[in-house]
Amino acid sequence: MAMSAPRNAERLRVPGCNLFAMCPALIHDHRGTPGFAMDIARIPFQIHGDSRGMLVALEGMRDVPFDIRRVYYIFATRDEVRRGQHAHRTLTQLAIAVRGSVTFLLDDGTGPAEVTLDDPASGVLIGPMVWRELHHFSEDCVVMVLADQHYDPTDYIADYEQFLSEAHATAFPGVAAAWPGR
Ligand code: TYD
Repeated sequence: MAMSAPRNAERLRVPGCNLFAMCPALIHDHRGTPGFAMDIARIPFQIHGDSRGMLVALEGMRDVPFDIRRVYYIFATRDEVRRGQHAHRTLTQLAIAVRGSVTFLLDDGTGPAEVTLDDPASGVLIGPMVWRELHHFSEDCVVMVLADQHYDPTDYIADYEQFLSEAHATAFPGVAAAWPGR
C-alpha cells in the first residue's frame, strides 16, 4: 500500500524531540514492504489563543483521524515507573501530554523509537501493533489518551515475544501515515 508523509510533516521537526527528527526517516520501507513505516505520527493541533490563555479543541475525524470512543488519562505516576508495556492488535490511540512531560518508547518489531511528549498542543498517533512503554513521567505529568474503541482487554498483547511473533506475521494498513491532517 503506497503511503505518503502526513501533510503537516514539515511541522514534525521540532528540536528536542527525537521522533520529530526521525519522522522523515520513518516514511520509508520497513520489513522490506514498499511504503511501510512504523504506524506513528506527530499531530500538531490548532491553538486558539488570546490574551486570556490557550485552548485546543479536538474533534473526531477532523483533528483526530478516528471517531473518539474513549478518553482516559494518566496522572500522579512516579518518575521511576514504566507504564504501558503492551501493544494493541486493532486499537488506534492519540496520546497528549496535556501537562508535564513523559517519554514513549514505540516499537513495531523493527526496533524502537523514543518520543518525549511535553506539549499540550500536539499529540502522537499510535496505530495498531505498536509496542509502547511510557517512562520518565514528570511529577506534574498528565497524559490524556483518545482511543477509537472502548476498553477491551482481549485487544492487548502484554508479552513482548508474543507481540514480535504477531507483528512479524501481520501485514496491515497504516493509520498514521495515511492521515492527511485536517
Ligand atoms: P493499565 O492497562 O495497567 O494501564 P497502563 O497501560 O498505563 O499501564 O490499566 C490500569 C487499570 O485501568 C487496569 O485495571 C485496567 C483499567 N483500565 C480501564 O478500566 N479502562 C481503560 O480504558 C484503561 C486504559 C485501563
